[in-house]
Amino acid sequence: MSRLMIVVGSVRPGRIGLPIADWVREQAEADGRFEVDFVDLAELNLPFMDEPNHPRLRQYTKQHTLDWSARVEAADAFIFVTPEYNYSYAPALKNAVDFVFQEWSRKPLAFVSYGGVSGGTRGVVALGTTVTAVGLVVVQPKVEIPFAVKQLGDDGRFEANEHQEKTLAAALAEIAALDVALRPVRPLPRA
Ligand SMILES: Cc1cc2nc3c(=O)[nH]c(=O)nc-3n(C[C@H](O)[C@H](O)[C@H](O)COP(=O)(O)O)c2cc1C
Repeated sequence: MSRLMIVVGSVRPGRIGLPIADWVREQAEADGRFEVDFVDLAELNLPFMDEPNHPRLRQYTKQHTLDWSARVEAADAFIFVTPEYNYSYAPALKNAVDFVFQEWSRKPLAFVSYGGVSGGTRGVVALGTTVTAVGLVVVQPKVEIPFAVKQLGDDGRFEANEHQEKTLAAALAEIAALDVALRPVRPLPRA
């Protein structure tokens, strides 16, 4: 089993990121290859990055960083569920990535993005340099959901269409394959 962390990148009250991430979680759990750790950044409630040392050194001084470090370290792979804000990334998600470093390294990452006409694409492009800097390996199938709000049902649940389900299935398959490939070259966790 791959330990898959699903991160809800938006933290606003009433965000549509949460029902979209619920759909991602349901499909990932149904897949059978993943043990899911669901991270809602609104619940995690990290402050703005407040460590005095570069995260590469892992000389963390705050309990919230130690907890986040252990949680990211325990994951084998990631899915970031993210909107784009003003043609760029969701700031809480960028902040959560910045907090730690080696814990992300050589692990696969898939994006599920959403928004208006662009489907969150520019947000994913904007975060691309950051995730590359920390050594995450982005998989190619990308779920992009334009006008996502139109796919919310009366009960508030996200109703994925067939194309989105297929693309997510392809991303999950790629994550599973890359997890196997990358495990042997993953850096050893430091004490
Ligand atoms: C601050 C802000 C900036 C936004 N910028 C964009 C944008 O650049 N492109 C876009 O397609 N939608 C944009 N939107 C609309 C969002 O796609 C839409 O509000 C979506 O629900 C945001 O995701 P969330 O509800 O999970 O926070 C923006 C929304 C907010 C609140």
